[in-house]
Amino acid sequence: MRQIKPDDVRKLWDNFWTDKERAHRLLKPVSLVAPTDDPTVLFNVAGMQQLVPYLSGKAHPYGKRLYNIQPCLRTNDIEDIGDERHLSMFEMMGNWSLGDYFKKEALTRSVEFLVDKLGLNKEFLGCSIFGGYVDKNGQEIIPYDYEAEAVLLSLGIGQKKIKAISMTEGEKCDNFRWPAGAIGPCGPCAEFHYDRGDDWWPNDWNIGENDRFIEIWNNVFMEFYKHEDGTFTKLSQQNVDTGMWFERLMMILEGKETIFETGVFRDFIGTVQTLSGVPYPAYQKKEGVMSSEEKAVLRSYRIVTDHVRASNKLMVDGVRPSNDARGYVLRRLMRRARLHIKRLCVDPENPDFQQGNYKSIWYIIGEQSKDVQKLNNTMTREIEQLWMDEIDQFEKTLDRGQKHLEKIMAQGVNEVISGTDAFLLSDTYGFPLELTQEMAAEQWYEVDIVGYEQALQATRKKAKENAKDVFSRGVDRAQYLDGVPPTQFVWYDEWSVTDPQVVKQIVLDDGRLVMIFDTTPFYAESGGQTGDRGTLTFDDGSTKTIVDVKKYGGVFLHFVE
Ligand code: ALA
Repeated sequence: MRQIKPDDVRKLWDNFWTDKERAHRLLKPVSLVAPTDDPTVLFNVAGMQQLVPYLSGKAHPYGKRLYNIQPCLRTNDIEDIGDERHLSMFEMMGNWSLGDYFKKEALTRSVEFLVDKLGLNKEFLGCSIFGGYVDKNGQEIIPYDYEAEAVLLSLGIGQKKIKAISMTEGEKCDNFRWPAGAIGPCGPCAEFHYDRGDDWWPNDWNIGENDRFIEIWNNVFMEFYKHEDGTFTKLSQQNVDTGMWFERLMMILEGKETIFETGVFRDFIGTVQTLSGVPYPAYQKKEGVMSSEEKAVLRSYRIVTDHVRASNKLMVDGVRPSNDARGYVLRRLMRRARLHIKRLCVDPENPDFQQGNYKSIWYIIGEQSKDVQKLNNTMTREIEQLWMDEIDQFEKTLDRGQKHLEKIMAQGVNEVISGTDAFLLSDTYGFPLELTQEMAAEQWYEVDIVGYEQALQATRKKAKENAKDVFSRGVDRAQYLDGVPPTQFVWYDEWSVTDPQVVKQIVLDDGRLVMIFDTTPFYAESGGQTGDRGTLTFDDGSTKTIVDVKKYGGVFLHFVE
């Protein structure tokens, strides 16, 4: 007897879809970065992203039956990472029928793969299906998916294990896939779940996002087209789009309690353990068995492992840490990883820490994921350098943020850090909320989380409004900024820059002077936070005041008086 390994599953997947009867063609994995002509997503969030044009009827060069294993990135639940089953980057296994087979074959093949090929016990499989869509008056718009239900019953999935989920107009439902935009192909889903048994809460069959019932394989049946007026018609070409989380599947196959104990992560975790010198705590699902310190260590382990893996892959795929949309996601992952590496390596007596070995965690994790990430030596070195540079910059940010936080606490009011201050620390100083909370707690301070959320929402709202224009409405901004390169934002201990190049000076219609430099140490207004103020000293010793700084498409506009 031998434990099934991640590579065994990949091979079984290949063999299953390419055999004579199923005859699917492999789609090579594409970059994590979504095609720039798809405005709906920054990253590939599912294996089907590269198939979007073909789901509407365009003929695919590889034919009508396709499959793949595609690395995907989802950062909408980044705060959940650190628990037992969330990841930012994961691999999605999927198969597609573009106007070929439909519900019967798709569901049959899912059960065949899970039960006959992987050996899962059918008794533990359940499936959620679409229970229908009614308008606000109770009028049926899309019917209950009786067809999927009948197929599942015929495959031996008992009625008790089929859960229909319905929706009323205005509601959302996991078992219906809407078009990405307002119109387009859409349809019901049937999602297989695996029951880990009644050791896990809740103690009854209740499929849903919980620890007992793990979502493994989603089958989306694209059978409708949603029109502009909200009506639906049947598509002439009906498609199947499926997706299964590889890492969650491995967790079930290996009988592990968390994804981080599977073969996919074993080496990564081992590396973090060797380099941090902090033992990896055995996960105990029973409440109260693990101490809060052990839980915190475990969480840090998971965050480091996940974030380093995802960051390396993003860099391999050409993303660089920055304040742009994609670059910022990467920056956030890298900085969060850095924080948790630091937390794991807190013991200054630890020889690994002293030798700076902890710095190589990302390097080694990069090495270990070579197969998946196609790293070569040059790329590995480049990635290591990117980590070093980003971390240096982050350390400076942390220093500044820490000083600011100490100042707030020194002036302390009621031993509470206000939501506005906590938000300022995270938004302007890049000082994460959880770090503020932790440092505040050391001095018996609390952070006003509700106030923080309010400040965050207010900023988002304002950012949307600001996005319209920083000049004035109706003024052609190209007139001012065409060809002006983005400003480099720098950190210096003295918070100043010597001899910046003046890239452009603009006198606005209302007479205000705006100066643009090649580099700047000034924060620009971002969302709700005001820009820095400061002094501009010319070679002849004369000075002017910078009263505000705004940012426009990466260009920092210094308003001078
Ligand atoms: N594309 C589908 C999903 O992401 C299968 O769940």
